[in-house]
Amino acid sequence: MKNYILIKNRIENFNTKIKVSSDKSISIRSILLASQSIGTSKISNLLESEDVLNALKAIKKLGINYEKKGNVYNIQGFGLNGFNISKKTTINAGNSGTLARLILGLLVKTKTTVKLIGDQSLSKRDFSRVIKPLKLFGANIKSNKNMLPIEISGTNFLRPITYNEEIGSAQVKSCIILSALNTPGVSIINAKKSRDHTELMLKSLKYPIKVKKNHKYDQILVKGLSQFRGFDYNVPGDISSASFFIVLTLLCEKSQIKIENINVNQSRLGIVTILNKMGAGIKLKKKRKYNGEEIADIHVKSKKNLNAINCPSKLNSAAIDEFLIIFLVAAKAKGISKFKDLGEMNKKESKRLDLAVKFLKLIGIKVQRFKNDINIYGNPNLILKKKFEIKNFLKDHRIFFLSCIAALTLGGNWKVNDKDSINTSFPTFLKTLKELGAKIN
Ligand code: S3P
Repeated sequence: MKNYILIKNRIENFNTKIKVSSDKSISIRSILLASQSIGTSKISNLLESEDVLNALKAIKKLGINYEKKGNVYNIQGFGLNGFNISKKTTINAGNSGTLARLILGLLVKTKTTVKLIGDQSLSKRDFSRVIKPLKLFGANIKSNKNMLPIEISGTNFLRPITYNEEIGSAQVKSCIILSALNTPGVSIINAKKSRDHTELMLKSLKYPIKVKKNHKYDQILVKGLSQFRGFDYNVPGDISSASFFIVLTLLCEKSQIKIENINVNQSRLGIVTILNKMGAGIKLKKKRKYNGEEIADIHVKSKKNLNAINCPSKLNSAAIDEFLIIFLVAAKAKGISKFKDLGEMNKKESKRLDLAVKFLKLIGIKVQRFKNDINIYGNPNLILKKKFEIKNFLKDHRIFFLSCIAALTLGGNWKVNDKDSINTSFPTFLKTLKELGAKIN
């Protein structure tokens, strides 16, 4: 079967409302926490993408049952460490760093050894960032030079830790929080700011977790061994998926869109802050609170005059998955945009900073790269006419999405490979584009 798409025409104007796929981070967390609760959790609007389905398969392998009824997944938990694990269990996290790193945190007390594997992309990623704190808790870990496959066997002698998380990684922070659930006493994490869905979800479950917010760091105190009951959760839309439609609308002509029911938690809102600093005029309407998260509808209109940005690196973590698509806006903005300290981009599903530079050069944009900083020389008159082929990007879903949005807004004759990568996070991406009038073969 052909695993590529062809785009030969720019998208014509549209004025409509859409929904995008449900939040991936929240979907995975709701499954993992449901697996630790006592009784039935009912999760509705779960994202049905490969990363999330792998999370469901993983808890099933660990002895947790679930069934789907209509739009709701019923997950049957047996409390903290309530897994029932047979010998020689292997969990395959597929492409998902979030699943792989978070589930390790739930395995610190297992009696049997569990092996964790992943796909080609995940097998190249660094796990030392979680192995270090997991070992401090007392878990036994064997790895392939800090990469997958990893074998973890838990211990009955867990000890609470105090840990400084200095990367600004929500995956590392959440792995530590989940390990702390099974550990007696109070564990303390001084975490550089990153998305805080795990903390908010535990708080909404009345779990004894305290967060003291400081300027750059949050101090998180987790008291272990408190049980919590099954819960209901309705997963909102994912701003990372919405980001591609925000930029599509901004960069095409005479169009507007309303993207409904999106999680606009401050720790995820970097893209809106950055694009509004560039003059995008994106509006959040109908704001409401849900289990500590903030939900809103996002309104965007096409914009002709966008300005370059000198992007404060304090926004990096809140936009970490969105920089690829933000760079496309910088490519069309007036002036030189500057972004700093983006080394973490190269630790994602592919080396995204390297690929971004390659991509921008391919579409004729001047880029200066200094290790983890880049300057992008915008060209407001950028229009493409040539042939482009995008391939060999480790099937990174976000590079696929970026290429489609570039093709539909800048023109040119595009062949984009690895169409299946959309199943990682946003299986209905192409369908939604087509509903807006995009011509895609
Ligand atoms: C995620 C955290 C981020 C992000 C990833 C999802 C999460 O990774 O890039 O797509 O759900 O916790 P890091 O925590 O490694 O920055």
